[in-house]
Amino acid sequence: MKKTFNSKVITLFPESFPGLLGVGVIGKALKNKLWKLQTIDIKKFGKGNYKKIDDTTAGGGPGMILKADVLGPAIDKSLKGCEDKKMPIIYLSPRGKPLTQSKVKKLSKNDGLILLCGRYEGVDQRLLEKYKIEEISLGDFILAGGEIAAQATLEAIIRLIPGILGDAESLKNETFNSDLLEFPQYTRPRKWKNIEIPEVLNSGNHKNIDIWRKEMSKKLTKRNRPDLWEKYKKKQDIK
Ligand SMILES: C[S@@+](CC[C@H](N)C(=O)[O-])C[C@H]1O[C@@H](n2cnc3c(N)ncnc32)[C@H](O)[C@@H]1O
Repeated sequence: MKKTFNSKVITLFPESFPGLLGVGVIGKALKNKLWKLQTIDIKKFGKGNYKKIDDTTAGGGPGMILKADVLGPAIDKSLKGCEDKKMPIIYLSPRGKPLTQSKVKKLSKNDGLILLCGRYEGVDQRLLEKYKIEEISLGDFILAGGEIAAQATLEAIIRLIPGILGDAESLKNETFNSDLLEFPQYTRPRKWKNIEIPEVLNSGNHKNIDIWRKEMSKKLTKRNRPDLWEKYKKKQDIK
């Protein structure tokens, strides 16, 4: 039997969870215990009378850094009871490798995941080295904190876990599952604001529909993601 995917999120704002992970199919699966979510509040590990969690940047510079001697115990707490499990620790960070669907697939094969959400200017580097924490980025932009990135990462992972999506078939044709972006999709009514659904999709001829979809995928990939198109061409040996 598949084990429940166990996720732990280390954050300054535990009240922001489950957030979007509490709605739709992912939320339903959470309620049905197909996956678990635990938050670890960084504030509880603060130092001294004022429960200090951050400090100024060594060497000077603007902003504050989350302290290693605060985050360390928070990580130790999240690791408790996970000793025999495959639980990678990930720090959501704009400096990390960009999250891709193939990385999401790999992560979904683990027993769970520990996600560290940064705030301010980030976290003390020694923490990342000591716990061999992998850095993952949501993209080339800066968020105010790691919480939205953690929710996006978890949502992408959880929907791949068998039994979570009603129609597992829908995962097959998705963008990034092949090297091409997904083709355009339509639904009833056949005519809307005087625009018709492409004729071939009403033809019932599945061979022609597949050919049309593949062509549209190629066209979209070429236009929107020249990087993916180059990769695809290389694989297919297209000049
Ligand atoms: C204001 S950012 C810190 C940015 C950092 N000083 C830098 O320049 O790389 C605060 C936190 O937001 C999160 N964050 C910001 N952008 C992100 C991104 N693109 N992907 C993942 N997490 C991000 C990280 O957890 C980060 O520690």
